[in-house]
Amino acid sequence: MTKAQSEAITNHWNRFEIPLEGKIDPQSLFYSIKPKEVIFEIGSGMGEATAQIAAANPDNGYVAIEVHKPGIGALIIRAESLGLRNLKIINEDIWDVLSEHIDDHTIDKFHIFFPDPWPKRSQSKRRLLQPAFISLLAKKIKSGGEVCIATDWLPYAKDIEKSFAQVPDFEGGVVPRPDWRPITKFEGKGISKEHVVTDFCYKRA
Ligand SMILES: C[S@@+](CC[C@H](N)C(=O)[O-])C[C@H]1O[C@@H](n2cnc3c(N)ncnc32)[C@H](O)[C@@H]1O
Repeated sequence: MTKAQSEAITNHWNRFEIPLEGKIDPQSLFYSIKPKEVIFEIGSGMGEATAQIAAANPDNGYVAIEVHKPGIGALIIRAESLGLRNLKIINEDIWDVLSEHIDDHTIDKFHIFFPDPWPKRSQSKRRLLQPAFISLLAKKIKSGGEVCIATDWLPYAKDIEKSFAQVPDFEGGVVPRPDWRPITKFEGKGISKEHVVTDFCYKRA
């Protein structure tokens, strides 16, 4: 963690933190706005896309869930420099957050951009987007809500399609790159290695 990231957490964490005590009501997390939609971003990384999307949509509330502390520091730095008031952060594993702290059918959208690809065949069981996790998303999202995904790892993209096909609550599939999703440093690196990026959108029935 850089000094700036560590200082950002020390100085501003209390403004962004959602403490994990009991159930969280997504709609009541944002004091200063009555959010049109509450979007959970799973694995926000260094927060590049998170901060830009939140800045472009001040009427929505964004909740970034990330286990990696330096990434949280980096996101806080971006959020502070943009003066974001519609962003909250949870420093915990998404499985725990969703299964223990969120009531069913309370989240409008999920963003999952470039989930860890676990490229080796022996590691693929560790991928997040598998039928059991997709069923958990189906339980927590509102009817009509959307899951937006991007990956630059083609074998993972194929698995994502297969896994969603096993969860009948969702309809959708590959979509053109949405113009609201900014190109991040992470995505740029993949593109420079000639990785093909696949975007998906799945809607909850
Ligand atoms: C490959 S990075 C992509 C980051 C970012 N979305 C981007 O596009 O640059 C995946 C991120 O997901 C986070 N992550 C992986 N598993 C997670 C979990 N179970 N709960 C929360 N975050 C997770 C990792 O720490 C990592 O920062």
